[in-house]
Formats: sequence, structure tokens, C-alpha cells
Amino acid sequence: MIRGGLPVIRKLSKNDDLAQIKALLKEAFPKSYDTNEALEEEVSDFLKEDYIVFIDIEKNEIKGLIGAMPQYGHTGYELHPLVVKKTYRQQGIGKNLLKTLEATLAKQGCLILYLGTDDEDFQTSLSQRDIYEDPLEALKNIQNLANHPYTFYLKHHYKLLGVIPDANGINKPDIIMGKRLIP
Ligand SMILES: CC(C)(COP(=O)(O)OP(=O)(O)OC[C@H]1O[C@@H](n2cnc3c(N)ncnc32)[C@H](O)[C@@H]1OP(=O)(O)O)[C@@H](O)C(=O)NCCC(=O)NCCS
Repeated sequence: MIRGGLPVIRKLSKNDDLAQIKALLKEAFPKSYDTNEALEEEVSDFLKEDYIVFIDIEKNEIKGLIGAMPQYGHTGYELHPLVVKKTYRQQGIGKNLLKTLEATLAKQGCLILYLGTDDEDFQTSLSQRDIYEDPLEALKNIQNLANHPYTFYLKHHYKLLGVIPDANGINKPDIIMGKRLIP
């Protein structure tokens, strides 16, 4: 953790400015958070006991957030969400949030951190056609057509584990990725 006037990564608390978190989510995922209710529900989930949420904060400005919840006892956690404010992207904030979460979960005995990263805007080759016939072949040959974040996770040693075709509508799949957290 870095202290002083520099950015700090720390756990989210109920005393943090939750309006900033809502704005962050809405900016990054306008389709998922198109109502106030959806935002309220998500942010109140973040404050639940078993949800692990870290923020990157500098001088009261929340620049990024990462969260994860247990799904298989304590051996598997689902990463959701990871978001960095648009103006601060490509500066290593996402990478640092991810490393902080991974280190924390590994210490708790978590074996796998996994996630679903949607392709709702035709950003990968998986959304260019019907992939039902051979989804794993399509996944093996995946191409990033428009800056889809799956490449960010590949860079951090996440593996492509599967794909759920049509998860978000016709030819709008969810790409499943995961990383083993122990050596
Ligand atoms: C994906 C996201 C969290 C990355 O955060 P970030 O702070 O911009 O990423 P970093 O600066 O830490 O990037 C680390 C590395 O990943 C790369 N990277 C970041 N975003 C990338 C993308 N969309 N596609 C490919 N590579 C990417 C960076 O170039 C950098 O590579 P380098 O180490 O070789 O220079 C951020 O772009 C974001 O909030 N996007 C919108 C929300 C989203 O898509 N979240 C993930 C949904 S599952």
C-alpha cells in the first residue's frame, strides 16, 4: 500500500463516497446499470460481509474498483467488477487492483479467481457468427477486434476456460476466464 498524497489501494468501507462508485460503474457499464435500482443493489452488495472490494483512491477521488465474491466455499471466487475511471486507464491502476485482490485471496486459501467478460458490442471474433456448433474451437481461435478486455486478463495469466454463447443476446457471448492463485 502506498500512503501520503499518493494513490492508496484499500478495502471499500461504508463511509466511502458511494456516489463516486455508482458513477464509475455507470460510466463503464451503461447497459448493465441503466437504472438507479440496479446501481443501488450492486453497491449495497459490495458492502456485504463476504464480498471483497478494493478501491484505488487519491485525495478522495476513487479512480478504480475491484470486487470478488466466494462461489465455491473459499476455493473459488468470482471477480466482479473491475473498473477504472476512463481518464485514468492505461496507467497501471487495473493491474495493481488485480494484483492486490489476487494476493489477498491467495492468502485466504482461494485456489481459483475466475470471471465472465461479456462481448456485447461485437468486439471479438466470438460475436461475429453463430458459435454453437463448436464453441471451444471458436474460443481457441479468438481474436480481439476492438480492444476487448479479455486481452488485459490474458496479459495477467488468466486462461480462457469457456464461453457462453448468446449470454447477452444473439451472438453476444460471455467469455469465461480464470487463474490459479497458488504456485
Ligand atoms: C479493463 C480495465 C480495468 C483495465 O484497467 P487499466 O488500468 O486501464 O489497465 P492497466 O493500465 O493496468 O493495464 C495493464 C496492461 O493491460 C493492458 N490493457 C489494459 N486494457 C486493455 C484492453 N482493453 N485490451 C488489451 N490490453 C489492455 C495495458 O495496455 C497494459 O499492458 P502493458 O502492461 O503491456 O503495458 C479498464 O480498461 C476498464 O475499466 N475498462 C472498462 C471496464 C471493463 O471492461 N472491465 C473489465 C470487464 S470484465
